Amino acid sequence: MEIQLRLEEEKDYKLVEELTREAFWNVHFPGCDEHLIIHNLRKAKEFIKALDFVAIYDNKIAGNIVYTETKVKDNDKEYSTLTFGPVSVLPEYQNNGIGSELIDHTLKISKEMGYKAVIIYGDPEYYKRFGFKASKEYNITNKDKKYPAALLVLELYPNALNGIKGIFDEGTAYEIDEKEMEEFEKNFNKKEKMRTKTQERFMEIANRYL
Ligand SMILES: CC(C)(COP(=O)(O)OP(=O)(O)OC[C@H]1O[C@@H](n2cnc3c(N)ncnc32)[C@H](O)[C@@H]1OP(=O)(O)O)[C@@H](O)C(=O)NCCC(=O)NCCS
Repeated sequence: MEIQLRLEEEKDYKLVEELTREAFWNVHFPGCDEHLIIHNLRKAKEFIKALDFVAIYDNKIAGNIVYTETKVKDNDKEYSTLTFGPVSVLPEYQNNGIGSELIDHTLKISKEMGYKAVIIYGDPEYYKRFGFKASKEYNITNKDKKYPAALLVLELYPNALNGIKGIFDEGTAYEIDEKEMEEFEKNFNKKEKMRTKTQERFMEIANRYL
């Protein structure tokens, strides 16, 4: 089946939040908060509309990716970077290449936009296929000056990060308020929160440092 990509439109917002919730439900912890993250991201000043894509598959919106502008700070120097996520594919359509198409396509545009690098928190096993490497290879740390195994960097062209190192700053756009989450969740159908194996893997990666 063919995968088509197009920019997300306002009329898609609710559906995309529902699909994000379906994709992330019970994946990282019982329930999920990525649908509120994307709801808030779209209003954030760091949000990049030109990189907010949906994937159409089987005549449905089956996937989505969003990006924000982030920074690497090195004392008084600051470098613009990009961060993507959440990236979501409806569970019933996963493993059909939709996630890869969304990532490949938007990385290409990111490069054309002149950005040097994309920095994300993600599963190194999945993202290495796109060329992401441990942030330690580039001397890019988190705010605690540590190298989390999940902090991954992709140079958008050879040597783009030459001479660049520092602290990755993703801003506040991904922060979630628990009360707001509770209220927001009331707009969606009821789903059961459960413990799953994927949560163990997520925690293991999230707690690993290099
Ligand atoms: C991760 C996700 C976006 C990938 O989209 P997709 O359309 O299923 O991915 P693709 O079909 O392009 O690629 C599938 C491949 O990725 C692998 N893969 C998917 N998630 C993975 C993970 N967390 N770790 C390692 N490999 C993973 C699959 O095993 C498959 O491998 P193969 O090509 O060797 O068979 C999608 O599975 C999803 O929405 N998952 C739930 C939400 C999530 O975890 N998002 C990413 C957060 S960092």
